Order: sequence, then C-alpha cells, then structure tokens
Amino acid sequence: GIAFIIAALGGYLLGSIPFGLFITRAAGLGDIREIGSGNIGATNVLRTGRKDLALATLLLDSFKAGLAIVGFALVFGDRNVGLIAGVFAFIGHCYPIWLRFKGGKGVATYAGLLLFASWKGFLIAAPIWLAVFFLSRISSLAALTAATLVPVGAWLLGETQFAVGVLVVLSALVFWTHRANLKRLLSGTEPKFGQKKKDTA
Ligand code: G3P
Repeated sequence: GIAFIIAALGGYLLGSIPFGLFITRAAGLGDIREIGSGNIGATNVLRTGRKDLALATLLLDSFKAGLAIVGFALVFGDRNVGLIAGVFAFIGHCYPIWLRFKGGKGVATYAGLLLFASWKGFLIAAPIWLAVFFLSRISSLAALTAATLVPVGAWLLGETQFAVGVLVVLSALVFWTHRANLKRLLSGTEPKFGQKKKDTA
C-alpha cells in the first residue's frame, strides 16, 4: 500500500544523506572522494587521520538506517513498513541521487539496519567484523566476512525465511559495492590500517 511507498521514499532520502562527505568537508579536509579509496564511508574518513570524524560518520551512517526503521514503524504502526524504510536507507546510502548514484559501500548502514531490525544479526556481525579487522587490519575484508556470515548465522538462529532472504540480498549488494576492494584483496594490494609505509631504503 501507500505506506510502503512513502516508507521506501523516506528511507531512501534519509539513507542518501552522505554524512562522511559533509563531515569531512565541514572539517576543511576537502572532498573525501579524492582521498584514499574515494569512498564516502567511515573507513575512508579514518584515512584522513581524524578518528573522531570517522566515528561520527560511522554513527550517523548507522543511525540514519535506525531512524528510518523506528520512525516509519512508529508513524504507520507497522514493523514491516519500518523494515522497508531501513532497506531503502541502505539503498539510498549506496546509490544517492545527489551524488549521481555514486555513494558509499553500505557497511555502517547495514550495521544500523541490523541493530534496529535484527539484533541477532547484529550480535553475529559486530564481533566478526571486529575480529577480522583487528587480525587483518583490513576494513573491507572484515565487512565481506561479516556480510557472508550474517545471513548464515541469522538462519541458524531461527530468523524468518523472509528476514534471511533480505539479508542475503543485502549481503550480495555489499559484495557488489566492494567489487574494487575484492579485486585488490585477491591481488594482495588492499591497504591495511596501522601499517607503516615501507622505506625505500
Ligand atoms: O565500509 C567500507 C569498507 O568496507 C571499505 O572501505 O574505503 O577501504 O574502500 P574502503
């Protein structure tokens, strides 16, 4: 019905707010799309050396999905309407109309979606992301590992078939948004965090 259409549009618009771009621009760091990987997400904001701005980007990109979910569920009194808004927030983040559909990779927004819509999924995703990141120091590898295991874990924990299906689609999209990272991972050229650049000596 009309509620789902409004929620999809509203969720998309909320999700398409590029916080990483705004925050770094406001801090006088220039255009984040010309730094590091060129991505507008928290990982790339961290490459500017500003942990505080990276954290702010992570939280805002996560909470915009949460706001979409909780907000539209409350407005229409229907949990499923909220879920649609959350999924469209993820799509809006990855494909924002304002940036000619060139947005982020959807990891923080996915995390926020899980936190507010499937806490079981979040409890699977967060430790996996953290463990892989701290072992490998590679953000994309952590995201791809978590994205792979979340639908599996949600299924094992007895989430509904519909929920598991949605997670499969979202995780597949995360692989798609990370296709350049995937190439670099496979060729061993994906940059790590906290690694000193080799001296040319
Ligand atoms: O959250 C995005 C992350 O998984 C990869 O970011 O900047 O290394 O491409 P980046």
